[in-house]
Amino acid sequence: MDFHAQFQSYVERTERGIAELLPPADTRPARLHEAMRYSLQAGGKRLRPVLLLATADLFGRRHNALPAAVALECIHTYSLVHDDLPCMDNDDLRRGRPTAHKQFDEATALLAGDALLTYAFQLLSRHYGGTPALCTALLRELAEAAGSEKLIGGQMEDLLAEKKSNATPTELDFIHLNKTAAMITAALTAGGLCGGAREDDLGALRDAGRSLGLAFQIVDDVLDATADTATLGKTAGKDAKADKTTYVKLHGLDAARRHATEQTEAALAALGRLPGNVAFLVELVRQMADRKN
Ligand code: IPE
Ligand code: IPE
Ligand code: MG
Ligand code: MG
Ligand code: MG
Repeated sequence: MDFHAQFQSYVERTERGIAELLPPADTRPARLHEAMRYSLQAGGKRLRPVLLLATADLFGRRHNALPAAVALECIHTYSLVHDDLPCMDNDDLRRGRPTAHKQFDEATALLAGDALLTYAFQLLSRHYGGTPALCTALLRELAEAAGSEKLIGGQMEDLLAEKKSNATPTELDFIHLNKTAAMITAALTAGGLCGGAREDDLGALRDAGRSLGLAFQIVDDVLDATADTATLGKTAGKDAKADKTTYVKLHGLDAARRHATEQTEAALAALGRLPGNVAFLVELVRQMADRKN
């Protein structure tokens, strides 16, 4: 299978998993479950579940990785629903559709986000309870990535750094590593855990995730400054308007692009330390560096 067919097949597996594993939209209260599905089934690149499923396959997929992939996409989607709220980035458009609080209302978006986050851990405990060591490892990996020292900590500092004129590159790296790279790392390590990766392989996956995650958020910053809203499926030019501390603001476009290339190369080098055929993951990392949205 060529890369695009393989990628599409992982996306389809993810979307079938979402359709099957989420509570049906008419579950009471229907408005809440509709809102959860509205955001989760709006599309998106599905990078994190694809990374998770492909990494599990790389190591032989000892355990079904699909519930973990859906759980991770639930957490990621919740983080977007809350990121878009008026009290945070105040965005109207996400994945080419009105944001959850525009389509429903702020309270429903807040609660749908809460519910998606919690549901991720319901899924993990329900589907991996029969293998307690794997279950605990997955719970720990996703809870740490989504917690106050990583995803939420990065989001907090992202907001604190708004309109800051003296933010340092170290502060910016803290933001990017935590708000974005932590969840991308968790995709790789959770895939490794499902596949049966050994400790030193998990180390290589962590290094790859750190660099890929950094590159991914730098490219997100570059696209915010250079792409159009229709292509992005979210409002372009928001970072400059909000005076966010981004790679583009701190380093300029050219240096930001250079940093993204360096981090992409570092991610590829880390993948090179893994056993087996990493061709799909290598191509995925390259595609993310060149993406248009
Ligand atoms: C958006 O993530 C938030 C960032 C971490 C930059 P994605 O660019 O992966 O968004 P979707 O899932 O494709 O919508
Ligand atoms: C958000 O970063 C990363 C998250 C953890 C949600 P951004 O605020 O730059 O993401 P977009 O550009 O709105 O997708
Ligand atoms: Mg944000
Ligand atoms: Mg945002
Ligand atoms: Mg952005």
